[in-house]
Formats: sequence, structure tokens, C-alpha cells
Amino acid sequence: MSEDHRLRRNKKILGVRWHLGLSYLLVIWVILGVLLLFMSNLLETSIIGARRASLYAQAHLIASAIRARGGPREARIATIGGLPPQGRVLVLDGEGRVLDDSASDPGMALKKLGFDEVRAALSGREGANTYYLPDGSFAMYVAVPADWDGTGGAVFIAQDLKDIVSQYRSVMGMVVWGGGIASVVAVAFAWHLSTTISEPLSDLSRAARMMASGRLDSRVSPKGPLETRELGASFNYMAQAIENTMERQEQFLMAAAHELRAPLASMRALVESMEISPPEPDELPELINDIHIEILDLQQTAESILSLLRARSGTAPSKPQQANPAKIIKELIKSRAATISERNLEIIQRYQTGGEVPIDPLLFRLIVANLLDNAIKFTPPGGTVAVTLDFPENRNKMVLEVSDNGPGIPPEHLDKIFERFYRVDPARQKATGGAGLGLAIVKEACEKTAGVIHVETSPGAGTVFAVEWHNIRSDES
Ligand SMILES: Nc1ncnc2c1ncn2[C@@H]1O[C@H](COP(=O)(O)OP(=O)(O)OP(=O)(O)O)[C@@H](O)[C@H]1O
Ligand SMILES: [Mg+2]
Repeated sequence: MSEDHRLRRNKKILGVRWHLGLSYLLVIWVILGVLLLFMSNLLETSIIGARRASLYAQAHLIASAIRARGGPREARIATIGGLPPQGRVLVLDGEGRVLDDSASDPGMALKKLGFDEVRAALSGREGANTYYLPDGSFAMYVAVPADWDGTGGAVFIAQDLKDIVSQYRSVMGMVVWGGGIASVVAVAFAWHLSTTISEPLSDLSRAARMMASGRLDSRVSPKGPLETRELGASFNYMAQAIENTMERQEQFLMAAAHELRAPLASMRALVESMEISPPEPDELPELINDIHIEILDLQQTAESILSLLRARSGTAPSKPQQANPAKIIKELIKSRAATISERNLEIIQRYQTGGEVPIDPLLFRLIVANLLDNAIKFTPPGGTVAVTLDFPENRNKMVLEVSDNGPGIPPEHLDKIFERFYRVDPARQKATGGAGLGLAIVKEACEKTAGVIHVETSPGAGTVFAVEWHNIRSDES
């Protein structure tokens, strides 16, 4: 099953609509259940209880009235008023046999009643119970002890509780109706609420899929509650960042191809001219030298691109290890000794300590090499280049300075020199060579090692590049 298909199926089962709707219904039904339980309890304890007490009182009244009139044989129930409505009264002797019946049912005469309530009354206690009868009615049986001739007896009342049942039914009906209406309202509300949440989320997943398929300009319009609006805005921010990065990569590739094309075009022109008119043997060394220069240029550009990509690779900051920065600088100066003496430059070096500090040696080497190469390259013969490494502020930070007394950099170019392939004067710099990548590499390596770079320059007086690492301290005294 495809990922898409599975997602769509899961959405049907687990969609926010279902979650919200079912949760609301669950809450409403639980509340309804508790309410019904509470009402049944209330009915039992108060309404039915009150009815029981009233029937007991009536039974006792009837018993007293019978006794006052000389016993059941003299006082017939029919002659005593105040019988309970929907009720049937039976007068029983000490054995539980029917002596009198308010319904005047001849079949009941002297019939022995064996109900629990009757047994309780005959043994001197009041008894009462409620019953669901086979005909579907709900009745209460009550019996109280009575005595009119010393042989005991009881008054038994059976009452149909249909008035209570109909009251209960109408209240329950109202509760169930209310629950039903609340359920419909809850489902409608859940539907509306889930739409306000799920719609922006669906938009977001659609935009994410479009981005994945290459439409980097896909955006969403943030809507819904605060959280989904924030999510939408974050998505747009991320999409813009991705688009910018891709655009920069594209520009970088174009610029790189452009830089590689220039020496290749020169070499092609040289080779084609040799094909048209084969060079004289004495012209060959110069031609070969020209091609050699272009090849070196090409190689240098390719290496710079590789260094930049290496410095950029990975998003995590560099992993510092114990390394000796002074030693790295000395090695780099030594490897450039031939150029330095060829250009008759004076190199001044000053190191506050020669010890090890925690730094990424590869990135540090890239920074020093590029700043040093620039200083050597742009300082006219006979000039001075100084490299210093200090640990000021009680050795709590490390500062590298590479300075020269070369031509300096015009201020209007200062904010651009760290861009890739940027050179102050590309035409005039043809002789010095270079693709304009050195300072971009330095910037990248500084960012990776948490170094902060500054430039101080004045045209004609020279340039100072300083890098400060607040995260590097030297423990050596
Ligand atoms: N010490 C310096 N003195 C004068 N100008 C400098 C100095 N350092 C850098 N620049 C100017 O800044 C530009 C960018 O320097 P960057 O190191 O990025 O490129 P590059 O040296 O021209 O080429 P690459 O470093 O790729 O060989 C240089 O072209 C140059 O114009
Ligand atoms: Mg450079």
C-alpha cells in the first residue's frame, strides 16, 4: 500500500473530526449517565420514600379507625373514608387471611397473603416494597401491624405508582431529549472546530508535497487558531529559507562554472591558434608557459571551491581538538618562503604563547592560509606582512591578526569582499590570480569555529584582518 493511500485511510479513521466528535459525545453521554443515575437515586430516596411514609401513615390511620369502630367485622373498609387513590386496602387477621378488601373481590375472602411485608407486619414490624408487576405496572406494597381483638392482624395497602412512573418518564424523556440535542450541537461544533484545525493542516501538507516535488515557491496562507497560524508562518519561513539557499547554490554553481570557463577559454584559444599556425620552436616555451599559468589558475580555483565546500559541509559547529596555532602559522609561512623571498617581503611574527588550545586545526589553517595569501599577494614587493597571535583579557580570548602595508581596500568594497567570487578589481587582478573565494572560505571557517572577523583598512596604508575567538582561552602562563 502506498504511503499516500495509507495516510488517507488513517485520516478517515483517526482524523481530528472523529477525535473531537467522539470525545464530545463521550463526555455528553457520561454526564447523561451520571445524571440518570443521580435521578434514579433521588427518586428512590425522596419520592418513593415519601410515598412509603405516607402509605404507612394511611395504613396506621385505617387500622386505628377500624379499631375505634370495634374491629374489622364491624367496621368495613367501604365505610371508612380516606382510602389512598389508585390503592387497594386489605385487612388481615393474625394468620394473614383477608378479612376485608377495599376492592370487594369475593375471590380474596379469607385468602392467606404470604407477602414479605405481610409477614413483617404480623411479626410486629412495618414492611414495604416496590415491585414491577407482570402487567408492566410499578406498585408499592405496604403492611403495618394492627390488633383489634388480641389475636393480631395487619392492614395491607397495594398502590399502583403510575403517577410517579409517568413523572419519572417525563423527566427522563426531557433528559434524553436534552442529551440528544446536546449531542447534535456537540457534533456540529466538533465538525466546525475540526475544520478550522484540519484545513490549515491539509493546506500545509499539500504545500509540503509541492515543495518536495520541486515547487519551491509553495506557500500557505496562515489561518485557523493561533497554533496553526504559527505553524503556517513557520512553514513559510522555512520554505523561504530553502528557496534562498537553493538560489544561492545555483548562483554559486553559475559563478563557479563562469570562473572555470575563463582559463579554459584562454587555453582553447591558445591551442586553436597553434592548430591554425603551428608555433616556431622558439615560441613554444612561452606558449607552454601561458598554458601552464592557465592550468595553475584552474587548479587553484578548483581547490578553492573544494575548500569552501569542505568548510561549509555539515551544519554542526566544528569539533575543536587540542592544536598548536602558532605551529600551524609557522608551517604556513614556511611553505610560502619561496614567494615571500621572491617578492622581497618582510614577515613579522609574534606569538604570545606557543602552547596548544582547543580549536579545529583544519579550519584554523584555512583561515590563516587565505589571509596570509592575500597579504602576500596584494602587498607590493618590499612591503611588510605581520602575523600575530594574542590571548588578551587574561588569556580569555584568542586574537589572530594578519596585517600588511599594501594598497588597502576601498571602503565601498568592504561589505562585499567576503562574498564568493568577489574581487575588488577583477581586470587589474588578472595578474595576481585568484577566484575571489579566499575570504568567503575565511568567513565560513570563522562562522564554524565561532570566530568574529573584522577588517581595518585605509587605501594606500594597508589592511588588518583580525579574528577573535571568545570561546578559546589559553591555560599556559
Ligand atoms: N590584504 C589585502 N589587501 C588588499 N586587498 C585585499 C586584501 N585581501 C583581500 N583583498 C581584496 O578582496 C578581494 C577578495 O579577496 P579573496 O581572498 O576573497 O579573493 P582573491 O584573493 O582575489 O582570490 P582567491 O582568494 O580565491 O585566490 C580580493 O580580490 C582583493 O581585491
Ligand atoms: Mg585570496
